[in-house]
Amino acid sequence: MLSREENEIVTRVGPGTQMGHTLRRYWIPALLAHEIAEPDGPPVRVRLLGEDLVAFRDSAGHIGLLDEFCPHRRVSLYFGRNEACGLRCIYHGWKFDVTGACTEMMNEPEENDFRHKVRVAAYPTCEIGGLIWAYLGPHETLPPLPKFAWTQVPPTHRSVTKVIQESNWLQALEGGIDTSHAPILHRLLSETSTRGGFKPSSPFVRGKAPKLEVDITGYGFQYAGIRPLGESEMHIRTYQYILPFHQIRPSKSEHGFPTDAGHIWVPMDDENTMIYNWVYSKTQAPLSEEDRLEAGLGNGPLHVDQKTFRSKANRTNNYNLDRAVQRTESFSGIDGINAQDRALQESMGPIVDRSKEHLGPADKAIIQARRLLREAVRTVAAGGVPAGVAPSYYTLRADEAVLPRTADWRREMTTEQEILRTV
Ligand code: FES
Ligand SMILES: [Fe+2]
Repeated sequence: MLSREENEIVTRVGPGTQMGHTLRRYWIPALLAHEIAEPDGPPVRVRLLGEDLVAFRDSAGHIGLLDEFCPHRRVSLYFGRNEACGLRCIYHGWKFDVTGACTEMMNEPEENDFRHKVRVAAYPTCEIGGLIWAYLGPHETLPPLPKFAWTQVPPTHRSVTKVIQESNWLQALEGGIDTSHAPILHRLLSETSTRGGFKPSSPFVRGKAPKLEVDITGYGFQYAGIRPLGESEMHIRTYQYILPFHQIRPSKSEHGFPTDAGHIWVPMDDENTMIYNWVYSKTQAPLSEEDRLEAGLGNGPLHVDQKTFRSKANRTNNYNLDRAVQRTESFSGIDGINAQDRALQESMGPIVDRSKEHLGPADKAIIQARRLLREAVRTVAAGGVPAGVAPSYYTLRADEAVLPRTADWRREMTTEQEILRTV
């Protein structure tokens, strides 16, 4: 549980807020690279941390991420012409390059030209892992590039999608790092069901309720859900949480080979989140077209409108909840694992009131994530570098296994790293 004041601090992300300052110290996914694939192609609107921006790729292939509103009389640059190395406002023809400099003023005679006095806000970007990332913080604290392991494999071995969730970013993140719900909400009731979810025979479902172990590290934490299985075994699933909003979890391709997957919960504003879903092959095998559809997850083109990135199952249609399916085939009756998550996390309201919760030991990872985020806020306020900025997360992985009850899961399943403390 958090007090109302604490809840405000961790959930509000706009300019001038404490969490807003903190999040502006990290690279933040702004859009999928293919949304602005072509030089001089159409610009795209981007909403990040309560700011309205416009992204474009100029004639030379450089990426611009500008304040959406023209500094002349504030019309939207979304309608602009992307031409000859700049984005030109179509109202009076002022033109801006990717650095935000004004390079032309069509409505002013040359002798009155004051373009050197005008700039539009422009943010630095980088293109890594099929995403365009932005940095909205102070220049002097530009972080190392976000080279997560999944960003470093060829595009054939990686898939990234995105979908808007109509809730605050933190309740989406908390849902993602909450392992105890996964084999409950996402379980199938029938072994023969072809829907997404965990089958009754899976050790994740057969295991008893989990004990959580959380190892605090320099980037966030690694943690394991440990589920007793039968007489002498245990089912272990390890996860990574990297501040402020990244998760890595173990997964499997549609063809059975191991993958890592994860989410990035990017606040668009206080009440809307762009969730990036990524998966990559940890083997030589590339991902298949089936993997890219993410049918079982409910994130791909079958479930999400690829122009608006809005979920087809949504609040207005009760997420297409099917009571007959809920009785016989899946625990939730909603199609698609992450569509189930969206339904429940949106049902909490735009910003959940954490002063009314009743948390238990199964919520340990969530409690620790909140602690670390509040610590990051204090670190930034004191002029320091928050956790998750230093590149100690580059090689992190996640894993899943059934081990003898006596095994040491850290030794068997994780790469060696500095653990600050275990909770
Ligand atoms: S409003 Fe953009 S040029 Fe006038
Ligand atoms: Fe879930």
